Amino acid sequence: MNILIIGGAGYIGSHVTRELLDNGHNCVVYDNLSSGLRGNLFKESVFIHGDIHDREALLNAMKSEKFGALVHLAASKAAGESMIYPEKYSSNNIAGTINILNAACTAGIRNVIFSSSAAVYGEPQYTPIDENHPVIPENFYGFTKLEIERILGWYGRLKNIRYASLRYFNAAGYDVKGRIRGLEQNPANLLPIIMETACGYRAEMSVFGNDYDTPDGTCIRDYIHVNDLAVGHSMALDYIIKYDKSITVNLGSENGFSVTQVLEEARKITGKAIPAKVTGRRNGDPAKLTASSALARELLGWKAKHSDLETLVKTCWNVYLRNLEVT
Ligand code: UFG
Repeated sequence: MNILIIGGAGYIGSHVTRELLDNGHNCVVYDNLSSGLRGNLFKESVFIHGDIHDREALLNAMKSEKFGALVHLAASKAAGESMIYPEKYSSNNIAGTINILNAACTAGIRNVIFSSSAAVYGEPQYTPIDENHPVIPENFYGFTKLEIERILGWYGRLKNIRYASLRYFNAAGYDVKGRIRGLEQNPANLLPIIMETACGYRAEMSVFGNDYDTPDGTCIRDYIHVNDLAVGHSMALDYIIKYDKSITVNLGSENGFSVTQVLEEARKITGKAIPAKVTGRRNGDPAKLTASSALARELLGWKAKHSDLETLVKTCWNVYLRNLEVT
């Protein structure tokens, strides 16, 4: 099938593209390279340098082939930043996605895989979080994802769009076969920050609070390996086509690791001291977030395979170490 991957040069997008190529699809990547990287493109895929705000370019891209589906991963994703610059998130995540959906309707692309987020749930009322958990986002980023889920619901009813909305938990790790090596620029997430500290790019890192109601006092998150996420996209696409049905599912490992556990594992694997000081809590951080992925298991037959702590950290370190050696 011809598949358009919007945001396919990014961290998650490149892993999704790799998976779809491996499954025999023809992939066209559409990306403005604002955070995506040329180095994340594969020679087997076609690249179109374009922006989701450019409606004409978007429509031209969608008409460049007869596409069976599109995957939309082009979004701003720093929850903290979204509380300071909501305009950026309204524009990129909401207006940009509306452009994509409208162009898809015009071009006749019916199947849409959308990168949603566990941020739609907000402060957990219980864990593990399943898809029936109330959706009350705590940050503007989560709101933008929920808003698009709702628009997708309407477009499903009114415009015959068939979609899979994938609620990612904490995406982490790098391709287990080492085929993707682009480092995220200015990362805001725990593992890349730990890696940058291990490499000496940062003198030390902060642990945001150790007085949470968790066994070691630091926050617990559900880290899902990016190869597992990528497989989830492919399986979700197969599902919506086979059953002619839209779905909204969590993609999480169902395991929880604390900040201290991740840091300790990174010290062990890298052999570096990784200086870290405990600072105050970060605003809006719940103590514990873990997923129930029972629905993805049941509907898609999907299960995380690479999301153990050692693989998450090792695959990251391999990429950072290689970058360190070549710079
Ligand atoms: N943390 C630190 N120090 C840092 C960075 C993070 O202690 O320098 C801690 C955070 O306080 C948190 C944990 O590490 O407890 C994970 O934080 P991240 O910023 O990596 O991730 P979040 O859990 O805040 O959010 C991530 C994505 C969101 C997504 C969410 C879903 O960034 O987009 O997972 O669970 F919605």
